[in-house]
Amino acid sequence: MNILFVASECSPFVKTGGLADVIGSVPKALEKLGHTIKVLLPAYPQLQKWLKHGDPLLELEDLFGGPARVFSVRAKGLNLLLLEAPHLFDREGTIYLDEEGLDWEDNPIRFGALSLIGAKISLDGIGGWKPDLVHAHDWQAGLVPVYLRQSGRQAPPSIITIHNVAFQGLFDGAIVSTLGLSPDLFNPDGFEYWGHAGYLKGGLAFADKITTVSPTYAIELLTPDFGMGLEGLLQSRKNDLVGILNGIDMAEWDPETDPVLEKNYNTKSLKRKVANREWLEARFGLEANPDAPLFCVISRLTTQKGLDLLLEVIPTIVERGGRLAVLGTGDKRLEAAFVNAAGNMPGKVGVEIGYSEDLSHKMQGGADVVLVPSRFEPCGLTQLYGLRYGTIPVVCRTGGLADTIIDANAASLTMKCATGIQFSPATVEALDQAIHRTCDLFQQPQQWKTMMRRAMTQEIGWDHSAELYADLYRSLIDS
Ligand code: ADP
Ligand code: GLC
Repeated sequence: MNILFVASECSPFVKTGGLADVIGSVPKALEKLGHTIKVLLPAYPQLQKWLKHGDPLLELEDLFGGPARVFSVRAKGLNLLLLEAPHLFDREGTIYLDEEGLDWEDNPIRFGALSLIGAKISLDGIGGWKPDLVHAHDWQAGLVPVYLRQSGRQAPPSIITIHNVAFQGLFDGAIVSTLGLSPDLFNPDGFEYWGHAGYLKGGLAFADKITTVSPTYAIELLTPDFGMGLEGLLQSRKNDLVGILNGIDMAEWDPETDPVLEKNYNTKSLKRKVANREWLEARFGLEANPDAPLFCVISRLTTQKGLDLLLEVIPTIVERGGRLAVLGTGDKRLEAAFVNAAGNMPGKVGVEIGYSEDLSHKMQGGADVVLVPSRFEPCGLTQLYGLRYGTIPVVCRTGGLADTIIDANAASLTMKCATGIQFSPATVEALDQAIHRTCDLFQQPQQWKTMMRRAMTQEIGWDHSAELYADLYRSLIDS
């Protein structure tokens, strides 16, 4: 099958979160199954150097205020279609935010343009290649199914994946005429959301199928607590909604070969992980204590991630002899609170405000525990990287965290299948208890090591989920 992906991020080229990891890895797994995946991405500055390796296959004199071209490039094992439109994508700042940290004012135009080109390629093909199906990801590609619907033409089937319903792409209704969208579709059954243009909503209304990134989140999304205003629409499309669990790139995240680790290790050489812990302690100025775990967090610092809860239990971590290393950026108040905690508890808490791919690998390599206390988590990838590195995940029982970690309770320990610690609900009390349980378990080294080995051998690559996507694509194409 020929599948067109439309997305706004793709690892290793440009990443703000897990969306990039997924877009950078699932196409490779689908390719192994014999399918051709092309990923349409904006040619941000990070991608410009690849343009010279490709051919412009599509040229437009005017794409909402400037010329545009689409280049086809093979880069790092992926087939990219790069949308070059300098007036929209060639700028300093991050891909969504300006230098002051505010959303680019023209984001509705930038990602409307991405979606329009996605729809155009779906309908007309590009360079002789025609997709059998288009797979749009998140609100940034949400208008693809809308443009397909308004074309009135015979279009290939479309799928939209919700990676996080908290981000919906809601903009002033005036964008409808700017983007040449049909006013006929701008109503509550279409992409209107209380007077605003809802990009994700449009995708959910008009795509043939809706997927999300874990089976539990697919169920949660139908409730007001998790659906964030779209639960009604999702309920009406319940039969078209399916949860397919994310996998990880097992080659990119492999403690046996990871080039940034101090020492590589596998299930048979767990002792070598200690060198990575020592490196991490030195890096974050933490005291050594082999009797209590070194906890880490690698995350956007937001309330979604429950990190305000974590701040409240730092005293428990310290009382139990544990240490905490945090890497993240986001909410300024949370950033300040963590920096403050590190200042108050030197040797016990270390914090790095920033984004570093290398450091994130080194933390997974060196820590004993990765904490993911999210209030909601569509899938979550850091707990999966934790499993792979034998860094035991402590997670809130929600979304993909519920689907990927087996809590170390009496039954699972007896059955020898525990892979981490779960707690619920997302409260300070429950998290506090989880910290105690984790420290207790850590003091049973045999039990802990067995759990590490089990975690490291979980099947968390893309093989299974890629087959589920392929089956879904096939069923839509055949019907
Ligand atoms: P989300 O996409 O909601 O942020 P995920 O767990 O799906 O959450 O994915 C987060 C991804 O971003 C992971 O690959 C994680 O390692 C990475 N990440 C998050 N914060 C940082 C950071 N400050 N530095 C490096 N990597 C980070
Ligand atoms: C979103 C979600 C996260 C998920 C990622 C990739 O960013 O917040 O839970 O893992 O998308 O699907």
